[in-house]
Amino acid sequence: MAIERIVDTSAHDDDNDEQQIEVTLRPQRFSEYVGQERLKKNLQLAITAAKKRSEPVDHILMYGPPGLGKTTMATVIANEMGANIRVTSGPAIERAGDLASILTNLADGDILFIDEIHRLHRSVEEVLYSAMEDFKLDIVIGKGPAARSVRLDLPKFTVIGATTRAGSLAAPLRDRFGLTHRLEFYSEKEIKQIIIRAAKLLESEIDEKAAITLAGRSRLTPRIANRLLKRVRDYADVNGDGVIDMVTTSGALKMLEVDELGLDPADRRLLGSILDHYGHRPVGLNTIAALTGDEMTTIEDFQEPYLLQIGLLERTPRGRQVTTKGANHLGKDQQ
Ligand SMILES: Nc1ncnc2c1ncn2[C@@H]1O[C@H](COP(=O)(O)OP(=O)(O)OP(=O)(O)O)[C@@H](O)[C@H]1O
Ligand SMILES: [Mg+2]
Repeated sequence: MAIERIVDTSAHDDDNDEQQIEVTLRPQRFSEYVGQERLKKNLQLAITAAKKRSEPVDHILMYGPPGLGKTTMATVIANEMGANIRVTSGPAIERAGDLASILTNLADGDILFIDEIHRLHRSVEEVLYSAMEDFKLDIVIGKGPAARSVRLDLPKFTVIGATTRAGSLAAPLRDRFGLTHRLEFYSEKEIKQIIIRAAKLLESEIDEKAAITLAGRSRLTPRIANRLLKRVRDYADVNGDGVIDMVTTSGALKMLEVDELGLDPADRRLLGSILDHYGHRPVGLNTIAALTGDEMTTIEDFQEPYLLQIGLLERTPRGRQVTTKGANHLGKDQQ
């Protein structure tokens, strides 16, 4: 994306300051992790049981839109288990040999976190199956007629996989996970709690009304809540005495062009161009991408989940369709 969007759910990893703040704000324990109650309850049970048996916890798969706390939860699980965590991602493991060297370097009870697990190469995926299932690694030594296959024992480890698209995961891989969980969007109340917690950690003073306003514009997503808070805090430091109140919050949000529902100009352009060209008729994702000039995957993974969640956009078998609520929000009411 050419222009960096404030409400973009992806991590802006070129921003060092932002990375530092992410580290400060990232919850370390279940007690600090706000929301996702069902997931927490299930994990707490699995972890308590595993600890009682002195075994590693079952393999865990988490999926759902970006910025909802999958990576954070993986760290929390490791902390609660008292386990070491090794972090990697699907695209980073290029060959089966790379995975083999990661696996043979693990110790009993270690956690291997694989982000973007849907992007694992096929050949790597196959090695992972048997490693996850029987903690064995089959490797071929030598070439041609002299080649022989050896089976190595692996430590008892836990894979935590994260993905924005569970649908793109090969079924045999999906089946290797004992616990599979979807992360849900947060409620505004939970986001407000996250904002107040973050403000405290950043040693910023925020009043109740400002916290509620920010929560309403954070797309029900912790990553955006933290990012908005950071920008408003900058604005309050420059244009006021540093206190985050309604005056500084309104000023900052206006400058950032984030509206009451948390939409930015790119979102309004997306909805607006569908409406202008197709009205309320369904339209394919590829057509939308052509209209806005964005990548299909960007729209599908980052932009539309929230628009669908709050009912501005609807998914039908024949494509995406702007709802009446969507048109009303843009002030483009049409029959
Ligand atoms: N439940 C939570 N309570 C408080 N803060 C949270 C919570 N979940 C996430 N955060 C904050 O939001 C930020 C983004 O979360 P995280 O990186 O875990 O998202 P993610 O689901 O892994 O996203 P992606 O799919 O882009 O990898 C974290 O730095 C953390 O500070
Ligand atoms: Mg992540």
